[in-house]
Amino acid sequence: MKLSVIGTGYVGAVHAACMAVIGHEVLGVDTDAAKIAELTQGRPPFYEPGLAELLNRTVRSGRLNFTTSFAEAAAFSDTHFVCVGTPQQPGSLAADLRFLDAAVDALTAEAEGPCLVVGKSTVPVGTAERLANRLRDRDGNGAHEHPEIAWNPEFLREGFAVKDTLTPARLVVGVRSPSADRTLRKVYRPMVNAGVPFISTDPATAELLKVASNAFLATKISFINTMAELCEASGADVVTLANALGEDPRIGHPFLSAGLGFGGSCLPKDIRALSARAEELGVREAVTFLRQIDEINLRQRQRTVDLARTLLGGAFAGRNVAVLGAAFKPDSDDVRDSPALAVAAEIHREGAHVRVHDPEALANARLVHPELDYAATVHDVCDGADIVLHLTEWDLYRGLDPRTLVRLVHAPIVVDARNTLDPVEWRAAGWTVRALGRQA
Ligand code: UGA
Repeated sequence: MKLSVIGTGYVGAVHAACMAVIGHEVLGVDTDAAKIAELTQGRPPFYEPGLAELLNRTVRSGRLNFTTSFAEAAAFSDTHFVCVGTPQQPGSLAADLRFLDAAVDALTAEAEGPCLVVGKSTVPVGTAERLANRLRDRDGNGAHEHPEIAWNPEFLREGFAVKDTLTPARLVVGVRSPSADRTLRKVYRPMVNAGVPFISTDPATAELLKVASNAFLATKISFINTMAELCEASGADVVTLANALGEDPRIGHPFLSAGLGFGGSCLPKDIRALSARAEELGVREAVTFLRQIDEINLRQRQRTVDLARTLLGGAFAGRNVAVLGAAFKPDSDDVRDSPALAVAAEIHREGAHVRVHDPEALANARLVHPELDYAATVHDVCDGADIVLHLTEWDLYRGLDPRTLVRLVHAPIVVDARNTLDPVEWRAAGWTVRALGRQA
């Protein structure tokens, strides 16, 4: 099949490459000419394990091409995936749908025959219907066939984007016609044949499912972080508690890692947008708990800052603070709403000298927080530190030798805000170890 993919951010770039891998001819479209120039060379504009190799291969095979022209996309294909960003609106909890509206308008203005526009962006429930009405209003009734709108939410995680796209847990399509259903089954045939569940529903259910999925994951994380606070207050241990909870198959292990909480461009934004949408729909009370999920999450950042300050004797002024991790999670160079950087920036505001290390995210971190110091090696970041804060759980940090680091720092104090360092090993090497949800 010939497919166009509009928007070449995380979702779009990965979707385009994976659709080419499973045999389609794909045209990726973006208004950002610099990004398109990189992608045309087979280079991803961000760090994502496995993507560079995949892009390179599919671009060289000729099955994947890129353009900045919507006219070219409209002429190339009659099935278009829209993968543009829907960030939080400044000054509001709601999602900003301007990029989505602009992409759909630009594409459909060029489309001459009937076509299927498949949204993959995360949107407030009701967006597909709104877009369909908007096209009807624009084009008038009966003038010609309107583009059909379907929704096919994306569930990929950064860091596992290629794997999640090629072998998803499920495929969900929200369609208004049997022909849209048939088209999408054909797009995903290799995956469906391999046994991936294909759930076909209406657009509203598909849209809401995506946000429900992220809200559930966020709830799990804030739940375990609530337990972490209770553990600290009561002498219990959250890591053991979470392991035992996860053994119950009704609960499961994933997303029960207690610590600094969630960040990134999805979970925080999506629970806020869901609150805003619920309010618009007149069911504000139904989602009161989501505001608490958000608050519990943000409180972990403050708790980490407070713990570090206490360990330094009550003030940060003039102290050297080493921060391990800047990305919002490991295996990503993404620093959007990064809990690690939020903690680092707050400690800097309180007068400390903060030096940050991250294996992949330093360039992005520098752009957002130029006031912080950055170092290319763990050695440099820890050299002379009064305290070490472990804020993003890269494998690299799990493998550090605390006996080597103890000789570099000024004071051997570590806060493990991700609960992945081995406290026994670090204490044996002479460190004072504190972790969220665990005993001193
Ligand atoms: C999330 C969802 O997991 C994807 O299914 C979804 O497609 C994506 O959002 C999206 O909407 O595009 P992502 O933001 O890449 O994916 O990252 P996650 O792996 O979900 O992690 C989110 C945050 O939660 C990270 O800051 C991570 O450190 C934190 N986290 C995760 C915890 O604090 N504890 C855990 O147990 C798990």
